[in-house]
Amino acid sequence: MFRYGDGEGLLRTYLFGSPTIIAFSPSAAKFVLQSDAKLSSEWPSVEILGDRSLAALQGAAHTRIRNLVVKSVNQPDPLRRIALMVQPRIISALHSWSERGTIQVLKEAKKVTFENIGKYFASFEPGPVLDILDELFIGMMNGVRANPNNIPGTAYHYALQCRKKANIIFREEMEKRKKEDNRHASTRNDLLDGLMRLKDDEGKQLSDMEVLDNIVTLVVAGYEATASAIMFAFYLLAKNPHVLQKLREEHIGLNKNGDFITSVEASKLTYTTKVVEEITRMANVSPFTFRTAKSDIDYKGYRIPKGWKVICLLRYLHTNPENYENPNCFNPDRWNVAPNPGTYLVFGAGSRICAGNMLARLQISIFLHHMVVGYRWELIDAEAGMVYLPHPKPVDGVEISISKI
Ligand code: HEM
Repeated sequence: MFRYGDGEGLLRTYLFGSPTIIAFSPSAAKFVLQSDAKLSSEWPSVEILGDRSLAALQGAAHTRIRNLVVKSVNQPDPLRRIALMVQPRIISALHSWSERGTIQVLKEAKKVTFENIGKYFASFEPGPVLDILDELFIGMMNGVRANPNNIPGTAYHYALQCRKKANIIFREEMEKRKKEDNRHASTRNDLLDGLMRLKDDEGKQLSDMEVLDNIVTLVVAGYEATASAIMFAFYLLAKNPHVLQKLREEHIGLNKNGDFITSVEASKLTYTTKVVEEITRMANVSPFTFRTAKSDIDYKGYRIPKGWKVICLLRYLHTNPENYENPNCFNPDRWNVAPNPGTYLVFGAGSRICAGNMLARLQISIFLHHMVVGYRWELIDAEAGMVYLPHPKPVDGVEISISKI
């Protein structure tokens, strides 16, 4: 790998079988993420998500589905509903963890996150079908960041097989819903119904494959990312008791009505908001993004030829001492001052900014609330090393001992 746009934050290399530019400075990353007309979003593993997935669509087709998704999961009304919907499972999960005494946070956070996703995306209740889907989605997620070689024995090949099996389960559910009368749909009001009813300007509905590709995309996009951020919350707070203490004081001081925290209450917790920004900066659960040049592109005197891949190295932005003083130090107070433009791109930027960014922040805040108010925990291995694929995590998936306060 050698420098390409020397001093302009671009590197040239060869990845996934293509010449590739890596953008690693704040301005180069912003340019890449905000240049939709010149760069298309193209994941090497798009076959797993499907070519009608939000992540693969461009232009008007992308906007149409994106608007629905954002309206369904990322705006105040759905957030209010989802906040209440997810808490019973979070509360009971924490309780059962403390009864067991020792748990691996990643494994358990995935379980509760998936149960909640199953509920608000497709009204699936815990049980054998959700367990099978969970296995299938884990297979798909491992394939999304793998080398896209469809050869038996590879993670990518296995992911494609998982996708086929998941299609069968979702198709059955969709067929069942098509036969129901409309009353069920209006009481259920989940994302699967929303996608099945979505019409374009000419009144045309999405095809079954379009619905499927997008449900799968949303689960893949939201599942491991949210669970990993929750895992890092346990990890970073265990390592930084002074932050935990300050956070606990904010939550204990909250005058809430009943067992649940509302999305509005969560949004007003100023220290928590900073903790969430700092957790997501350090967790880097989405370390890079993929684009392809639609035509020759000129950036500050350098040319990116048509067809070349362009990767934004988000993790580098968040861990570069030029952007953050002592970047490896977990310091929520650094958010007393707004970050410099282009240095915090945890959720991307531009028209493809994460469609679930507010939902992700809310879920982390809700988890933080129940964790810090009711529990104390310690890392079993505070020195565990890090692995980075398919998502960054301490090797032990953050094993903790946990008990009620
Ligand atoms: C901590 C949690 C999360 C992180 C760090 C994260 C990060 C990101 C990033 C960086 C992108 C931009 C990708 C690009 O530019 O190519 C993205 C896109 C996306 N995210 Fe998230 N995400 C998180 C959680 C979620 C959740 C909970 C959902 C949904 C329920 C979600 C749904 C999506 C979707 C649908 C896209 C594609 C948007 C588009 O192409 O228009 N994400 N996410």
